[in-house]
Amino acid sequence: MNKNIIAVINQKGGVGKTTTSINFSAGLARKGKKTLLIDLDPQAHSTIGLGIEPESFTASIIDVLSKKKPILETILPTKTENLFIVPSHIRLDKIEQQLAPELFRETFLKKAIDSIDFDYIVIDCRPTLGTLTINALYASDFIVVPCEMGRYALDGFSDLMETIDHVKNGDFDKADFIRIVLTKYDIRNKVSNDWVIQQLEPFKHLIFNTYIRRNEALNQSQMAQEPIFDFKADSIGAQDYEQLTNEFLRL
Ligand SMILES: Nc1ncnc2c1ncn2[C@@H]1O[C@H](COP(=O)(O)OP(=O)(O)OP(=O)(O)O)[C@@H](O)[C@H]1O
Ligand SMILES: [Mg+2]
Repeated sequence: MNKNIIAVINQKGGVGKTTTSINFSAGLARKGKKTLLIDLDPQAHSTIGLGIEPESFTASIIDVLSKKKPILETILPTKTENLFIVPSHIRLDKIEQQLAPELFRETFLKKAIDSIDFDYIVIDCRPTLGTLTINALYASDFIVVPCEMGRYALDGFSDLMETIDHVKNGDFDKADFIRIVLTKYDIRNKVSNDWVIQQLEPFKHLIFNTYIRRNEALNQSQMAQEPIFDFKADSIGAQDYEQLTNEFLRL
């Protein structure tokens, strides 16, 4: 299975895309894999979450998508060995609008990353299914869909699956390139957990065995601008993201 370029996608906001992008990337880097996190969200939460301040860099994903700079010139090291990032900035929002009339605009990111050499590239997406997210879908060979345990977990899920089918031409077996990761799992919420699991029954074979439990340390690590492994190595969050990384590497 080819799974070196991984898009982290869900158009629903606040479900754990960025938390997963940061800590799964850091998990891969800790295994000695040379890993690049591409922040494709104007909110720049992955950028900030890895300790890079919004005004501290001169080149970003904006320069890549507007074809001003090759991606190599935008890559920054992070405090984690083997983990690199292409940062984002709030101005990316405007670039997405400017791309709208451009021909082949969905393929810009794919073309840009064709030339670089990493073991893994992880792409953190914004919570919409617009041009940026479609770029991530085109560029990726594996898709991780974080899904927050709760009553509205499945909102928009069928739209997301349709979009993936459309971009990937529908002639692949989804099990080869999509995994759902359940996030903010709290064993005490039995009724809503059972409800979500029941709703997800048709997609059961796509769900990672690892659940990411609700863990305050994960929340705090974003504020501390560090991957969970540096912030609190013995936390439940660190255990869960380590296990997720291992499960992914075994696929
Ligand atoms: N397992 C968890 N336990 C506790 N808090 C979590 C967990 N996962 C994520 N969070 C918190 O929930 C909030 C939303 O998470 P995150 O930023 O990862 O979501 P997102 O899908 O990237 O959001 P957006 O759609 O805005 O990009 C953050 O404050 C984050 O710290
Ligand atoms: Mg995010």
